Amino acid sequence: MTLDHLGIAAADGDAATRLFAALLGAAPYKTETVAREGVTTVFFGDGGRTGAAPKLELLLAESEDSPVGRFLASRGPGLHHIAFEVPDLEAAMARVRALGLRLLADAPKPGADGMDIVFLHPKDTAGVLVELCQRRAPAWETRVVDAPGGALAVHLCGAEDAPALVALHGATAAAAQLRPLTERWARRFRVVALDLPGHGQSAPRGDGAWPTFAEAIAQSLDALGIARAHAFGYSMGGGAALAFALAHPDRVNRLAVHATHVWWDEALVRQFNAGLDARAQPPAYAAHLEAWHGPAWPAVLERTAAFVRALPSEPIPPDALARLRAPTLVTHGDADRLFPVERGVALFRALPEARLVVLPRLGHALASAPEQLGPLAAHVEAHLAPGGALPAETDAAPARSSAADALTA
Ligand code: CO
Repeated sequence: MTLDHLGIAAADGDAATRLFAALLGAAPYKTETVAREGVTTVFFGDGGRTGAAPKLELLLAESEDSPVGRFLASRGPGLHHIAFEVPDLEAAMARVRALGLRLLADAPKPGADGMDIVFLHPKDTAGVLVELCQRRAPAWETRVVDAPGGALAVHLCGAEDAPALVALHGATAAAAQLRPLTERWARRFRVVALDLPGHGQSAPRGDGAWPTFAEAIAQSLDALGIARAHAFGYSMGGGAALAFALAHPDRVNRLAVHATHVWWDEALVRQFNAGLDARAQPPAYAAHLEAWHGPAWPAVLERTAAFVRALPSEPIPPDALARLRAPTLVTHGDADRLFPVERGVALFRALPEARLVVLPRLGHALASAPEQLGPLAAHVEAHLAPGGALPAETDAAPARSSAADALTA
């Protein structure tokens, strides 16, 4: 169980919102009404960082006979509940019952901020109202765009009026690869997760080189009526994000690229393509490939090999990157054996307005250090958020934020 948030009942919502915004030095990241409970919630992250626990949840009563209205009448404003996040709410409820503690409901109810919730009886918990919560799997909507050059599949999540964030997956993968990251970002952004051409549900087109990917990104934003967006790319998707920013600088707000290398030579092509033999895929990765692309997944590996063979003759030129104005966060795992961390440092140095974060123990595969995905998501989010600063060095998540440190890693 992790302490997720503190619930604070407020009699004067505007005054309490101003107070905590001033105290934390950050505006609330979300206001949400839960009509069934007659409550409006105002959420503050830890110093304004969405999803950083513990959060503050201001509770504003919509009516006097709502649960929070009755609490205010009898107890006055103040601490209302503490909430622990659990990975499996039903299992946690069974454990609570086995401890002889009473629950205030027989089944979880949908709460605010994407959580399913249940409360424990405060008489059984030292007079403190305790909430257990589990993050609901966010709803994804897939649209297949009939674009010139071939169909494009875009997977959408998050509020439609939130700032758009294009998410671009790695080679041989599809949009679903990034869900451990994109589902976090969907709390604050309109996530537009694209299957790059020739991957997932998007049709192959041309030779799949960087400009083809850049055009596919522009077309998918056109189809969604999105003029400008942030962009995040992982590995090959990072190259696609950079190519998009170079081709359409007026359409990019801020960029983040992870585990990305854009200057390929023949030796790296041979090393990479040696891993693309369909018969040699480890069963676990073959299962991912089948889930992303269906039974025709070996063709994706063949197309990727052709794409990679073309990379040495189609580099993204360093002098073009030097003109890129979008503020860019470069993140890299210091255990990346495919693209050693020095590649990320070189990309960072080639960009005029970049920051670098090196994540310890993380290899090239995102699954190589799952505990680093939360910190990675938070670094990207802090970079993309308006005026966002990188999380403080004192953050519990270990990360180094300078090129000098990276080079000694
Ligand atoms: Co709560």
